[in-house]
Amino acid sequence: MRRYFADRRPAWRMKAAMPFQDFRDFLTALREQGELVDVDRPVALELEVAKGLRKSASIAGPAFVFKNNGTPFPLVAGVYNSRAKALIAFQATEDEAFGKILNGLSNPIPPVLVDDAPVHENVIEGDDIDLSTLPVPKYSPNDGGPYITPGIVVSHDPETGIPDMGHYRFQIIDKNTMSFLAQPMHRFGKNLAKAVRLGQQTFRAALVIGVDPMLAYTCPIQATDDTNDFAVAGGLRGAAVELVKCRTNDVNVPARAEVVIEFEVQFANEVFEGPLGEYTGYYTPGSMKPIARVLAITHRNDAYFQALLTGVPPTENHTLKQLPFEASFFQMMRSQFPTIEKVAVPSSGGVSFYIVIAMRPRYSGEARAAILMAMGTNLRPKTVIVVDPDIDVNNSDQVEWAVAFRTQPSRDVILVDQLPAGPLDPSVSDDIPLDQRMGSALAIDATYPYGTDVRIAGSDEACGPSVAEHGHEFVMVADVPGWRDYDFPELRNRAP
Ligand SMILES: Cc1cc2nc3c(=O)[nH]c(=O)nc-3n(C[C@H](O)[C@H](O)[C@H](O)COP(=O)(O)O)c2cc1C
Repeated sequence: MRRYFADRRPAWRMKAAMPFQDFRDFLTALREQGELVDVDRPVALELEVAKGLRKSASIAGPAFVFKNNGTPFPLVAGVYNSRAKALIAFQATEDEAFGKILNGLSNPIPPVLVDDAPVHENVIEGDDIDLSTLPVPKYSPNDGGPYITPGIVVSHDPETGIPDMGHYRFQIIDKNTMSFLAQPMHRFGKNLAKAVRLGQQTFRAALVIGVDPMLAYTCPIQATDDTNDFAVAGGLRGAAVELVKCRTNDVNVPARAEVVIEFEVQFANEVFEGPLGEYTGYYTPGSMKPIARVLAITHRNDAYFQALLTGVPPTENHTLKQLPFEASFFQMMRSQFPTIEKVAVPSSGGVSFYIVIAMRPRYSGEARAAILMAMGTNLRPKTVIVVDPDIDVNNSDQVEWAVAFRTQPSRDVILVDQLPAGPLDPSVSDDIPLDQRMGSALAIDATYPYGTDVRIAGSDEACGPSVAEHGHEFVMVADVPGWRDYDFPELRNRAP
């Protein structure tokens, strides 16, 4: 039966067909939903911005525009700090957002190049470059300095020219110098390593701040190295991304970005970068890293700069990664294991180190095969748990119940040693260079043994996902048959 409801969707949902054009469109939508608040009083960039962000995130509060931050640029912060804001960004419901990412991956739309771009309304070059005019916060007390954390690096593969977008932290060193961390398993890191191998002396790229949120949510999507991220972003938006060529290099950047910092990497490790309180909730110690020399800063008229809190999970770093990681990891895993029904990559594990997969194994050992594939992905999980689909992967009580009673450790635990270490794993010595760090991973196959026949006591009906036609084991679940459909008046209209 079809049911008709009064349309109670918020305004942005009713006109959802139009993708956001840029960061400003997104800010307008956040403001309309009460998710963006102006802060007119003076707020210090050192730690005070971070305190406000932490506090607001802890109560699912709004994002901020810090207008009085001691620089000419208003500082927008916290725009990715909750699932509610993520759904505004996706212009979608919880269920639709996941599908939108999968659709973007399957139906990419190539970007278009334009000549005239708002981001070139102001071009600062040469001696006029001064990074201290930008509102860049210091987030944690022991951070090595101010950090640009929401910046998106656009770099090209030096052999194929394929563009990549990805978030990378940049520390301000002086008026025209920055340093950064590009891990060897991420594409900017790979592009730099390839440039060195090809004998290039320097490498030019761009750091982009303030974009249509679909570009930001495209960055964490796990895709192959020959993926043009702008085409995926086009697929997510349902319209081509407009790009413009940088002033000092051949990299194309979003034409309607708020700010673009064009830079050149000098490969020698010449400057001390770090520490930074990271997404693991721990400081990554400082070390010598390459210099990124700024060649130009371009920005829109009345440009917004952006800040993003990272640290003990959950922060907006985690919220930003979770949907794209889960959707693209799901798609990758499903290509091999089509009976996977759900995956969770929770923030508690930094949206990387801990993964739960719900699947219905089709034969003995399939859950273990899925575990090995998950361990081989670029998420580099340190713990993988596979459960049957009757377990809600997002409900830790249910996952622990499955682990407690459906497993025998000697049979169901897998330990794999000498894998590439998880990204910035604080339990691995940081004296070892990033590309040489190794770690181990643990997995638990918490699915019933293949072929188990699962029933609820008092009911003849089979329950549980792993019921096999020729069950060789019989498990009786001590649940109360029929409780789900029982009409209990006192409990009507209560949230589940
Ligand atoms: C806010 C934020 C900051 C990040 N900072 C860094 C960083 O400094 N260095 C790094 O290697 N990865 C960083 N990452 C992770 C990568 O951007 C991310 O895993 C991305 O998928 C890697 O790009 P690729 O898929 O193109 O290889 C960050 C992610 C987010 C969401």
